[in-house]
Amino acid sequence: MRQIFRKKVTTHEDFAASGLKRCLSAVDLTLLGIGAIIGTGIFVLTGIAAATQSGPAVVLSFIVAGTACAFAALSYAELAASVGGCGSAYGYSYAAFGELFAWAIGWTLLLEYGVAVAAVANGWSGYFHDALKAIGLGLPPLLTHAPSQGGIINLPAAGVVLVLMILLATGVKESARFNAAMVLVKLLTIAVFTAIAVFNVDPANWSPFIPYGWFGEGPQGKPVGVLAGAALVFFAYIGFDAVSTAAEEARDPRRDLPVGIIASLAICTVIYVMVSGLLTGIVSYHELNVPSPVAHALHLIGFNWASGLVAGGVIAGLTTVMLVLYYGLTRIIFAMSRDGLLPPFFAAINPRTQTPVRVIVLCGVLMTVIAGFIPLGDLAELVNIGTLAAFVMVCLGVVVLRVFHPDMQRPFRTPFSPLFPILGVISCSLLMAALPMITWLRFVIWLAIGAAIYFGYSHRHSRLAMEEQESRNSSIESSGIAP
Ligand code: ALA
Repeated sequence: MRQIFRKKVTTHEDFAASGLKRCLSAVDLTLLGIGAIIGTGIFVLTGIAAATQSGPAVVLSFIVAGTACAFAALSYAELAASVGGCGSAYGYSYAAFGELFAWAIGWTLLLEYGVAVAAVANGWSGYFHDALKAIGLGLPPLLTHAPSQGGIINLPAAGVVLVLMILLATGVKESARFNAAMVLVKLLTIAVFTAIAVFNVDPANWSPFIPYGWFGEGPQGKPVGVLAGAALVFFAYIGFDAVSTAAEEARDPRRDLPVGIIASLAICTVIYVMVSGLLTGIVSYHELNVPSPVAHALHLIGFNWASGLVAGGVIAGLTTVMLVLYYGLTRIIFAMSRDGLLPPFFAAINPRTQTPVRVIVLCGVLMTVIAGFIPLGDLAELVNIGTLAAFVMVCLGVVVLRVFHPDMQRPFRTPFSPLFPILGVISCSLLMAALPMITWLRFVIWLAIGAAIYFGYSHRHSRLAMEEQESRNSSIESSGIAP
């Protein structure tokens, strides 16, 4: 039983020769973070949260979710700078809590990143197809809908995942360059929206400011209010954690990872508060329950040209979200496979591209199928619960490692520890509690499947288990007792 809590504390030196290419700077990492963060959350969910859960107080929902993320980000920054390895929260849990928890978090991260990519691909497909239609190249409905929606395949959703697969397999620097260009496009889009919205605010739209209160029950028992809105728009912040999966490709991980994590989150928080405030200021929040609230609001106040531009920005924005989360997913699987918790087949690095090509292709094919054949509308909340669970573990990890490994080198230290990490645990747990029951149920089922795989395979094949076995064998040999 003790074995399931065996721990593995690593540093960046342990991964010096992992085979991945160290080529990402602090700016690359910050752009990677912004690439993953700004997407569906601000361009789509803000409208739904404002119309159905928070009203104009969606700004407060963003501040609440952003505060929880800030505590988590500071904890991530400490562990990313000190523990090393591209496994992110998975690797930190291995160091702080042992193998079983590491597996559970790694398994949870696979859900977070994998489902998020497929879900965002569905959203991307809608925007992309609208753009195709606008230039007269619309596809027949059979090719833009999953079978359960009356179609054959969602071709754009499946196609974009395949294109990203090729890009990621080509090389990480190439992917980072593409990401930087796309991030620029989405930031420009937001700048245009802001410039227009600032001059079209009608303060009457902000009243009543908190129509649904802080926490209450809405139709069909669904939670409403600022906190429930925060639990939903939390999705908008997901992605800064993906920066930590680049630990083995960062030039100077000790210094640059904390910069990338904290800078990307801070920049996006400011943008979110500004955009959500302006959005509910230019039109009534009742108008925002549509698939493209930002473009729709601009259309309502008479800026049709800008509405088309926003659609372009959204396409670019969602592309980078998928790219970076897909990247993070492959690095976590790579780390878990290197540790023996997943088959070693996935730990191979292609010497030419210096990327884990096998994992990239396998994930690409799987996510292409999911994105093409399953509509993933309401799975955002499932992604949120998995991510929040990982954040709780990372915050707890800071406290545990400070107690049990006080001498570990910590190039970045979370300020006011253990207060900030504990506030991170409390705030992320509160957001988890605000999620619907069905989401909890799905999450528990996912963990149960993970437990079956761990006890059926990973427990016996993990590298630590192998090392323990070898040292047992050699001590038996040296004591002269025949095995
Ligand atoms: N934060 C990412 C988004 O909003 C996942 O799309």
